[in-house]
Amino acid sequence: MAALLFTPLDLPNGARLPNRIAKAATEENLAGSAQAPDDRLVTLYRRWSAGGAGLLITGNVMVDGRALTGPAGVVLEADTDLTPFRRWAEAAKSGGAQVWMQISHPGRQVQAAQGGLTWSPSDVAMDLGKHSKLFARPTPMGSEDIAETIARFAATARQAEAAGFDGVEIHGAHGYLLSQFLSPLTNRRTDRWGGAIENRARLLIEAVKAVRAVVRPGFAVAVKLNSADFQRGGFDQADAVQVIRMLNDLPVDLLELSGGSYESPAMQGRTADGHTLAREAYFLEFAVELQRAARMPVMVTGGIRSRATAEKVIASGMAVAGMATSLALAPDLPRQWREREQPAPALPLLKSKNKVMVSLASQAFILRQLRRLGRGAAPKLSLSPLVSLLFNQYRRKQAGKRYQAWLARRYPELG
Ligand SMILES: Cc1cc2nc3c(=O)[nH]c(=O)nc-3n(C[C@H](O)[C@H](O)[C@H](O)COP(=O)(O)O)c2cc1C
Repeated sequence: MAALLFTPLDLPNGARLPNRIAKAATEENLAGSAQAPDDRLVTLYRRWSAGGAGLLITGNVMVDGRALTGPAGVVLEADTDLTPFRRWAEAAKSGGAQVWMQISHPGRQVQAAQGGLTWSPSDVAMDLGKHSKLFARPTPMGSEDIAETIARFAATARQAEAAGFDGVEIHGAHGYLLSQFLSPLTNRRTDRWGGAIENRARLLIEAVKAVRAVVRPGFAVAVKLNSADFQRGGFDQADAVQVIRMLNDLPVDLLELSGGSYESPAMQGRTADGHTLAREAYFLEFAVELQRAARMPVMVTGGIRSRATAEKVIASGMAVAGMATSLALAPDLPRQWREREQPAPALPLLKSKNKVMVSLASQAFILRQLRRLGRGAAPKLSLSPLVSLLFNQYRRKQAGKRYQAWLARRYPELG
């Protein structure tokens, strides 16, 4: 019996997760018109909710329509119509799960062809070898841009609460804007937003405080943080301990630990120098170490495929085990795990020496499964990763055109 995994968890805000399994954030790239969720996301989250996870964290929702992680990203701003978001939250809660919206700003991780704004703490361009040109050199943010961004995190959280979500998770990981501020490689500022870790963490801390100030106390506020960036000279484990200590002083209901960035995709089990991380629950060792500094419950995500591994994660002192890939391939896995061990299906890999292509194909394959689930179909593991990649590139192009038309209407001053 998986007794540990199916024990409820009481959070600092008074909410209760029915069990310790979370669907980690999965940017679905499934926004419909006006960058809003439509029937596909509603169907997908209803399916996941019925699948038995205690917590569903949405794919990252953008706080600023001018900066998207991908062209079919969901945007929620202060004046966005909440009707489609209400349907999304209701579907996600229909099976008894809590639903939190992940809120995010990509900073410099915006493809140049997409349009909009490419902001970052400093003008450090992305280094992706021969793929670097895909990303524009970012514009360093002025203090007004920083203040506006903090206000945007708060406004999106307040909107999420009004739409019926149970909480938000602030995305401070994976090389997005808050993570760019945290890393000395991307943050070369000499003002109060750069330098010592207290300064590099200021944007994250101010975002958490601003969000907390506008939501009711029972609304969950969580943070996703890298245990490290796995890049020489980057945000490291000692930095992570310091940030966790700062977060301890705030009402944070859950800390999710992950790792990596576009440059160093450790969240896919691989780092910048090509080092491959241990196969299952690869951040667990880091997380156990960091958890000693944390006063809030900790969730670890990355590489969990079997019930035995998820149990090990909880037995190691983690409050929650997060999964993205496994629940995309097998949305009912938590329900099955109540009865028996049933490992998630293996992710078919593109056969290529080019690791970037292999990663992109895996991502595209997973996204294709999410689209299937979103139209009420079952996952189909026999699909080709290569065809998925080509298909995804075509879809991205189409979505890019729709996004640019929306952007020009909504922010004509950018044209
Ligand atoms: C298709 C896809 C989309 C993702 N989107 C997000 C996201 O929006 N926000 C985020 O924090 N992590 C995102 N991730 C990373 C996952 O949340 C997770 O950290 C990572 O996939 C490792 O966990 P896994 O091995 O269970 O997939 C995404 C992963 C995948 C596969």
